Amino acid sequence: MTHETETSPADRASAVLGRPHPRLEGPAKVTGRAVYASDTALPDLAHAALVTAAIPRGRVTGFDLDAARAMPGVLAILTHRDLAGAVRPVKHLMEGGWANSSHRPLDSDAVAYSGQIVALVVAGTREAAEAAAARVGVAYAAAPFAAALDDPGAETVRLADLKPAHHDPRRGEAEAAFAAAPVRVSGRYETPVQHHNPIELFTTLCAWDGDRLTVHEPTRYVGALRHGLAAQLGLDPGQVRVVCGLIGGHFGARLALSQHTALVALAARRLGRPVSLVPSRRQCFTIANHRPETRHDLRLGADRDGRFTALVHEAAMGASRFDAFAMEGTDVTASLYACPAIATGERAVRLDRNTPGPMRAPPEVPYLFALESAVDEIAWALGLDPIDLRRRNDTAADPVTGRPFTTRPLMRCFEAGAEAFGWSRREARIGAMRAGDWRVGFGCASSARPVKIAPASLRIALTPEGGARIETAHHEIGNGITTLLAMAASEWLGVPVGSVAVRLGDTDLPPAGLSGGSSTTTSLMHTLERGCATLRARLAGRAVAPGGALAGADPAGLTLADGVAAAPDGRRADLAALVRGLAPGTAETVAVFVPEGSGPDAWERTRAGRLALGQTEGALAWAFGAQFAEVHVHALTGEIRVPRLLGAFAAGRVLNPLAARSQLTGGMVWGLGSALLEETQVDRGHYRNPDLAEYLVASAADAPRVEAVLVPDEDEGVNPLGLKGLGELGIIGVNAAIANAVFHATGRRVRRLPIRVEAML
Ligand code: MOS
Repeated sequence: MTHETETSPADRASAVLGRPHPRLEGPAKVTGRAVYASDTALPDLAHAALVTAAIPRGRVTGFDLDAARAMPGVLAILTHRDLAGAVRPVKHLMEGGWANSSHRPLDSDAVAYSGQIVALVVAGTREAAEAAAARVGVAYAAAPFAAALDDPGAETVRLADLKPAHHDPRRGEAEAAFAAAPVRVSGRYETPVQHHNPIELFTTLCAWDGDRLTVHEPTRYVGALRHGLAAQLGLDPGQVRVVCGLIGGHFGARLALSQHTALVALAARRLGRPVSLVPSRRQCFTIANHRPETRHDLRLGADRDGRFTALVHEAAMGASRFDAFAMEGTDVTASLYACPAIATGERAVRLDRNTPGPMRAPPEVPYLFALESAVDEIAWALGLDPIDLRRRNDTAADPVTGRPFTTRPLMRCFEAGAEAFGWSRREARIGAMRAGDWRVGFGCASSARPVKIAPASLRIALTPEGGARIETAHHEIGNGITTLLAMAASEWLGVPVGSVAVRLGDTDLPPAGLSGGSSTTTSLMHTLERGCATLRARLAGRAVAPGGALAGADPAGLTLADGVAAAPDGRRADLAALVRGLAPGTAETVAVFVPEGSGPDAWERTRAGRLALGQTEGALAWAFGAQFAEVHVHALTGEIRVPRLLGAFAAGRVLNPLAARSQLTGGMVWGLGSALLEETQVDRGHYRNPDLAEYLVASAADAPRVEAVLVPDEDEGVNPLGLKGLGELGIIGVNAAIANAVFHATGRRVRRLPIRVEAML
C-alpha cells in the first residue's frame, strides 16, 4: 500500500490541513510505550477471571466452589448468590440508556445465552484467577433455546413493531412492477455472524477511592460508562471517572457500558482493592456484541434499457430477546438508485444470544452485499457493463422522498476507479480471462453511507510557550483524531503541530459523544473550529489594541502562521508574546458544537452519555465510493485469491490524506475478510469457533495490493466545513465486488458469505 503526497483542491491554500501527516501517537504504539487501560499499574491490584455459561439457555442449579476456593491466592468468588439485586437495570444506548446490552449477569440463576457470565473469580494474580475460574463447577438445568435464525422458537418481529422510530421505505406498487418487469432478478442473500476481534480485549480495571470510582477501560463512549455505572450502582455521575487513553481497536465494538464493568467495580468495593479483568479471547465472543447474521430476499426488475422498474428488499437479522437493537439498512438500499417502485420490510429475529452491536458500517456491509450482487446479476441478464448499468440508474435525488443529495459523486467514483483499476482491460465473457491455472474475474460494486454528526465540546488553550492544548472526552480509536486535532489547531491558530498537546478519553474533560458512525472528525472539527475562532478573535483584539504589537491594524486581516501574527501592512508579532499578554483566563476557551437539526435535547443527551448521533436534515448527505476487485480462482482446487483491490472514494473534504487512505484501505482489507473468511458459526446454541485459530481474519498476505483513490467532493450543503467522515466507507461493497468478480471468473453466483473454496467445487 503506497501513499503518495496529494492535496485536495480545496486545501491548496492550507498550510497543514489537506496535507498528509503521520500520526502523532504512532511511535509510542510501535515501540510499546503506549499505555492501554489494562497496563495501568496500581498498588495492591487484584485480578479477576470469568466463568461463563456452558448451556444456551436455562438455569444455574448449583456451584461447586471448593476446589476453586482452595487454590492459592484466591480472594473471592462471586455468583448470583452474592450479587443478585446489586446492579440496577439500565437500558440499551439505542433505547435511551447507556448499555451495549441490558442483560444483567449474576442477577439471578437464569442463563439467557451460551457464554453469559455466571461467576467472577478474584485472586492476587491473573494466573491464579484464571486457574481457579477453570475449577469452578457449575450445574445447570437446560431449557429449550433458539440461537440461530432457523432454530424452532426463534421469534420474528417486524422492526417497525420493535422500534417505534423505524419505518420501511416504500414507493409505488413494487410487487406489481416487479411482476411486470421484462428483466428480473430474485435472490436470497445471506451474511453470517461476525465478531470484531480487536487486538485489545474487552478489559476493565476498577479502583475505588472512598466512594469515588475510577474505571480504566477501552471504550468509545466514556460518558455512557460514567452515567451507566452511576445508575447501576446508585452513585452520582460525578463519583465515577472513566479513563480511556488509547484503544486497541473498536471496529464497532465497545459501543457503551458493558455487562462486566459493574461486576468488577463491585468486586473491587468488596475487597477494598483495585481489580483488573482481562477476559480471554473466547469470552470476548459472548460478553461483548457481534455483527448479527442477515438474510435478504431481494427482487430487482429492470426494463430492456437497464432502468430499474422495481425493487423489493425484505431483510431479517438476528437480535437478542432483551434488547431492540437492530440495524436498519433499507434506508440506504432503497435510496441508492433511481427506481419508481420500491417496497421494503425489515424484521428482527429474536434469539437466545447476547445483543448484537454495530460493526464497521453496520447495515451497509450486509445490505449492500445483497443489493450490489443483484445489480450485477441484472447487468449480466442484460449483457450490460455493470458500471454502465449503474450510470443508467444514477439519481440526483432520493427516489423514495424526492429529497436531493447534497452532492452525488457516485459515478465520478466509478470513473476514477475504473481508470485507475484498468477496468477497460476486462473481457466480459465468463472465463475469458486466465492467468495460468487461474480463472480471472473483475468485479465492482458501489459503496455509500449517510453522513452522521453529533454534539461535542472541547477545551482549547494557548500556552505561554506558543503551543496549544486540546482536551475533550472524545476518543482516539486509532483513526488518527489526535493528529487531526493538532493539525487543525496548527492551521487555525498558527502554532506548530508538534507543540499541540491533545488529551482525550477522560470524563474529567469536556463532554463529548461516542466515537462512532464515522462522525468523530466531522463533529470534533466543527467544535475545534469554533474554539479557535474565539481564541483568534481574542489574540487579534490584543494585538491591534492601542499599545499592542500590531496597534491599529484591521483585526480581520491578521494571519496566524508559524508562531507569528502578521498584519496586512507587513508588521509581525510573536504569537507566544501575544498569548502572554492576554488577560488572565482568556488564553483558553471551551467550545460547544451542536449540529443543526440534531434535536432540541441533543446536547443534554450527549452530556448525559446518551446517543445523540444525527444525520443532516433536508437534503441527503452521503459519502460514496466505487469498489473494484480482481479475483483469481484456481481452475483445479477452487482456491480464491484477491491480488488486487482498488476503491475510489468521495467523502467531502479530506483533512489528512495519509490517515484517510489508512482508514479506507484498512476497511477494504476487512471487506475482503467479510467476503472470503469471516464467519462465526452458530451450532446448537453455541458459537463454535470463538478464537483466532478458527475465526479467520484477513492478513497482509491475503491482500497484496490495496489502493484507495481520493475523489474530490466539495460539498457545501453537508455542513460548514464540508466534512463527511470516511472511517466506515472503505469496507462497504468490497464483499459484493469480490462476489461479482468470482462470478465473472467462474460463472458461479455465490449469494451467501463468506465465499469459501467449497462453493467453487
Ligand atoms: Mo460504526 S460500527 O456505526 O461506529
